[in-house]
Amino acid sequence: MNINRRLFLFGGTAITAVVVGNLTPPTLAQTRNINLYSSRHYDTDDELYNAFKAQTGLGVNLIEAEADQLIERVKSEGANSPADVLITVDAGRLWVAEREGLLAPVDSAFLKQQIPANRRHPDGLWFGFSQRARVIFYNRDRVNPADLSTYEDLATPKWAGKILVRSSSNVYNQSLVAGLIAIHGVAKTRQWLRGFVSNFARSPEGNDTAQIRACAAGAGDIAIANSYYYARLAKSNDPVDREVVEKVGIFFPNQRDRGTHMNISGGGVFKTAPNPDAAIKFLEHLAGSLSQIYFAQGNNEYPVVPGTPIDPVVAGFGTFKQDDLNVAEYGKNQAEAVRLMDQARWI
Ligand SMILES: [Fe+2]
Repeated sequence: MNINRRLFLFGGTAITAVVVGNLTPPTLAQTRNINLYSSRHYDTDDELYNAFKAQTGLGVNLIEAEADQLIERVKSEGANSPADVLITVDAGRLWVAEREGLLAPVDSAFLKQQIPANRRHPDGLWFGFSQRARVIFYNRDRVNPADLSTYEDLATPKWAGKILVRSSSNVYNQSLVAGLIAIHGVAKTRQWLRGFVSNFARSPEGNDTAQIRACAAGAGDIAIANSYYYARLAKSNDPVDREVVEKVGIFFPNQRDRGTHMNISGGGVFKTAPNPDAAIKFLEHLAGSLSQIYFAQGNNEYPVVPGTPIDPVVAGFGTFKQDDLNVAEYGKNQAEAVRLMDQARWI
């Protein structure tokens, strides 16, 4: 794909004559776009982009890749990067972009008003647009949900040999542990990890969905995974997937204290964005009432803006108390979390 590397003046409307690489002169139509680097792509996202164009006249050029690749690409593109907006999943990944100094603070009264403070970066470097819960799944034949309670409880000997969870290299697990560090401190989290890892049913393998499937197959009694994977199985046309959902129940931990661990899908504006004003408009669009329904639905997540209707299948999992810890804590504690998981030999 050829990308015209253009340098824009302020506001994304005035254009300098600098064109590098492909020498197609920038036309007005080309300047009326934002360049979105996204690690998510769903049919509902296309509808969001079309609605944005209808409302603002601004099109969305989508560059889609894994978050790490997008971040590396923007770093290598440097000051001439055409990238305006980054969208990715997990506050731990947004933090990587933040740590690399790639994101610009956005001061938008609308974003502040729509998105709760604990689901966005304190300085406006990124904003959550949907959220997911990292929960406990249990084999209905083997576990009485009355015996489940908290993440903390998963380190007790009663779960010895019963827990299924993916590798510690996964950012979702890093954020879960980083959250525990924020709540309990390093020493207690180290101790918790010792018990938790010693309760594993097997050496970590596979992704979140693989843990839910293995739980249904009896490879362990409980699995840790993000909520939307279960919704995906529940909506599947494959009877094998729906059988997994029949065999496995969903449990929201820590309902009697701080609530269930939450994370976000979110995004921010690149420091080098050629179209910063349009980029902010795009973020505001994603936080709008109607967009919120579509953005969350695309990945069976929970909207971030209070009062937004939830997908019926996801709503069927029940209401629950969310941990109101600011998701920005995960990035801050990520390095410590990885260190502690290594010490505990969580591979
Ligand atoms: Fe995921």
